[in-house]
Amino acid sequence: MNAQTLSVPAAIRTRRTTRHYRPDPVPPELLAELLDLAVEAPTAWNMQDRSIVVVTSASGRRELSNAAFGQPQPLEAPVVLVFVAETTAWAAENTDIAELAVRNGAWNAEFTAMFAARAEFHSLRERGLLRENAVKNAMIAATYVMLAATSLGLSSAPMNGWDPNLVKQAIGIDDRPDLAIAVMVAVGYSDTTPPHPGRRPRERMVFAERYPSS
Ligand SMILES: Cc1cc2nc3c(=O)[nH]c(=O)nc-3n(C[C@H](O)[C@H](O)[C@H](O)COP(=O)(O)O)c2cc1C
Repeated sequence: MNAQTLSVPAAIRTRRTTRHYRPDPVPPELLAELLDLAVEAPTAWNMQDRSIVVVTSASGRRELSNAAFGQPQPLEAPVVLVFVAETTAWAAENTDIAELAVRNGAWNAEFTAMFAARAEFHSLRERGLLRENAVKNAMIAATYVMLAATSLGLSSAPMNGWDPNLVKQAIGIDDRPDLAIAVMVAVGYSDTTPPHPGRRPRERMVFAERYPSS
């Protein structure tokens, strides 16, 4: 592990949304480490139903900036990660996931049979929740990326302000209604760490046992 790597608590406390970047590229081995950490993020049933499209080309980042109503982060940051939620991945061939989990001793026969039946996904489909499920999984991976980036000495910016059709066009999936954009995360180096905008006191948003009545 890199000697300068920040601990998880330190990364959580120092991560800031960074909107301006130096043009310096992210070294390929550091980007690879970041992406390895990203795909360690958990997903429901270990379905891994989210992908990350890594956009580094100037033209691709310009398209993403245009899709994001001209926001500067994709133009300035050398790397933009687009988190794609795969709403129907659960219905595809997924035996490799089960085989690996069994080989690793992580799943028993009972769990493997439940995975194969995919009852929860059928239920999600009936309740219209497939997109929400896949987006949740993608967002957790994006959170891992932001914290890992801080830990590795990189700055980042989550972005939800964009036109989904234009983002899909920019990464070549405009003909895929089964795919949804969850979030974009710009990653790079910055000269400045923005100030912490602050948070409300914990008591304002953490409650014991039940949500307070209004
Ligand atoms: C899901 C999500 C989407 C966001 N989208 C944008 C965005 O499109 N543009 C932007 O400038 N900031 C965006 N932000 C950054 C927030 O404004 C920022 O996280 C917030 O002000 C708290 O600051 P901090 O991240 O430095 O703690 C987004 C943050 C999140 C979590």
